[in-house]
Amino acid sequence: MKKKYIVGNWKMFKTVESAKNDFSVLNQLLSQNTHITCDVGICPPTLFLNALSAEKSSITLYAQNTHWENEGAFTGETSIRMLKSANIDGSLVAHSERRQYFNETNETAGKKINALIKNNMKVIYCVGESLEERESGKVYDVIKTQLKDAFSQCKKSTLELIQSNLEKMPVSVAYEPVWAIGTGKAATPKDAHDVHTYIRKELAEIFNQETANSIQILYGGSVKPENIKDYLTDDEIDGALVGGASLDPKVFFELCSLVSL
Ligand code: PGA
Repeated sequence: MKKKYIVGNWKMFKTVESAKNDFSVLNQLLSQNTHITCDVGICPPTLFLNALSAEKSSITLYAQNTHWENEGAFTGETSIRMLKSANIDGSLVAHSERRQYFNETNETAGKKINALIKNNMKVIYCVGESLEERESGKVYDVIKTQLKDAFSQCKKSTLELIQSNLEKMPVSVAYEPVWAIGTGKAATPKDAHDVHTYIRKELAEIFNQETANSIQILYGGSVKPENIKDYLTDDEIDGALVGGASLDPKVFFELCSLVSL
């Protein structure tokens, strides 16, 4: 079985002080408890990244967003070069809140994926349908377009880099149905299983089956201690992207414990 991957998305919460404190608490819990077998990642707000990366830990650190250019007149943006200079491991790309409120498109997502991979950074590419799209039977079309249109922005050499890195696969995909994010209304494990299976099939078309198998596909949307095992016992579900339940380090650690049993 593949190692499970639990990633916390802190969104726009916490202060410098509480971020440092919560990260330390989580780090200590993880390092003191040898039964933890999953990999762990955290996506803090950009402002906190530099301070958190200074603390020695096994936690993979992601920005929540990045720009694809190295530098330039892009007020308010953070470049991959800047993230690298703070020893950050990667970035989320196209979280649904970025798609919904900040005009992120599949095309801009693809440019970000391309630039991150070329810079040896990790990517969690977020896909998922809205409630309206689900109710009108468009789930698979939406997911297919989100995957195809983004990866078609990547250079051939970038796709080859991904394919040649099966051991240290830099790409994960997070399936987050928009209607399940922060609503308490999680997708059923069966819904998640079906979409994950479909995502893997599409990834096999974009890359090849071996690459698709090594890409971790995470489920996100109202994951909490009460339901995480329903998802993570499914072989098609390689991990979870967790918002609300990642904010308290003890609850987040509980999630990591539950999938390590
Ligand atoms: P949630 O958020 O766990 O609070 O639903 C998930 C996410 O947006 O990544």
